[in-house]
Amino acid sequence: MTASYPIRPAVLEFTPYTPGLSIDEIKERYGLSQVVKMASNENPLGTSPLVQERVCKAAGTMFRYIQSGAPRLVEAVAHFFQVPPACVVLGNGSDEVIDLLIRACPTPGIHNVVTCTPCFSLYTLQSKLCGVALREVPLNPDFSFPWQAMRAAVDEHTALVFITTPDNPSGFCPPREEVLAFAASLPPTCLLVVDEAYIDFCENEQESSLLPLLATRPNVVVLRTFSKSFGLAGMRLGFGVMPQKLATCLCAIRPPFSVNILAEIAGIAALEDTTFRAATMHTVKTGRAYLQEQLTALGCTVFPSQANFLMFRLPQGCTKQAKEVFASLLERGIIIRPLNSYNLADHLRVTVGTAQENALFVQELTGVLRHA
Ligand SMILES: Cc1ncc(COP(=O)(O)O)c(C=O)c1O
Repeated sequence: MTASYPIRPAVLEFTPYTPGLSIDEIKERYGLSQVVKMASNENPLGTSPLVQERVCKAAGTMFRYIQSGAPRLVEAVAHFFQVPPACVVLGNGSDEVIDLLIRACPTPGIHNVVTCTPCFSLYTLQSKLCGVALREVPLNPDFSFPWQAMRAAVDEHTALVFITTPDNPSGFCPPREEVLAFAASLPPTCLLVVDEAYIDFCENEQESSLLPLLATRPNVVVLRTFSKSFGLAGMRLGFGVMPQKLATCLCAIRPPFSVNILAEIAGIAALEDTTFRAATMHTVKTGRAYLQEQLTALGCTVFPSQANFLMFRLPQGCTKQAKEVFASLLERGIIIRPLNSYNLADHLRVTVGTAQENALFVQELTGVLRHA
């Protein structure tokens, strides 16, 4: 007997998220003992010492379920970011909050979701999976946001508009006034989701983020993550700040205990460790300036970035394609990010590393380009 259980067409046709390659994969593939990963926008300084200490101490508690809703972490987040606790929705990474928003707000067959293209792929992947109509508006050639075209794509059936500031993969950060004007132009039936995964790396976070202004913007949701400046990518922790009614709905449909007991402890410690966070900011901002300068000196076109990564194109006349340069760097033990999955096959993205990692990357890229 052959089984004939149902699987939804959207699942059968699903293109999974393309993650960056792991260090172990590359070590094994090329027989390397040392590999530097500058591919997934993780924290160059690793995990905060305070987080490590607290998580080690709490290791014996993992046989317990976490207290439902992780209220201590909700309080800590609300206090740190000066937002009402009732408006905070924690998730297993901000990925989970994106997924919850797409499952909660648009009704398949009725509503649509508007994104830019290229954009962080989870907005489009989860919309497709949920069977929600997607409207993708091309970014401007300089990777700035096409506000008018985005507004034109929105109609009375648009439930969500997603933007990322600073944007991934370009690093472009629009002036906050432009984002606010766009939010104000939307119908009250449409939520603007501003994914601020990288906003703390901006030159001026307070003047760039929408978080301090949320109380007066009833149709704006802000997403933040603990994966980048807080150094907890592997722990999976993120959150959204949103109108209270929506927050209550998302908390109700979120799978119970999706934020785990160690993630709560890690998150609280990460918020406390201001020394680690300040060191992270310093490392990223100086490293970003260094890489911008060095890549430009090599003849690359580097896109101005306010994030912890830089997107660039190879020098004009370079005989190697981006994917070949990516592969040659892999052989030399450096993982960066090709951008085929963003439909930017001639662009590359590199995450800012430590000073040594940045220098090694520049040295190896120089070697690769010399042979091109
Ligand atoms: C724009 C953007 N949003 C969200 C995420 C996901 O973050 P998390 O690790 O919190 O799920 C990423 C991860 O790279 C990202 O680039």
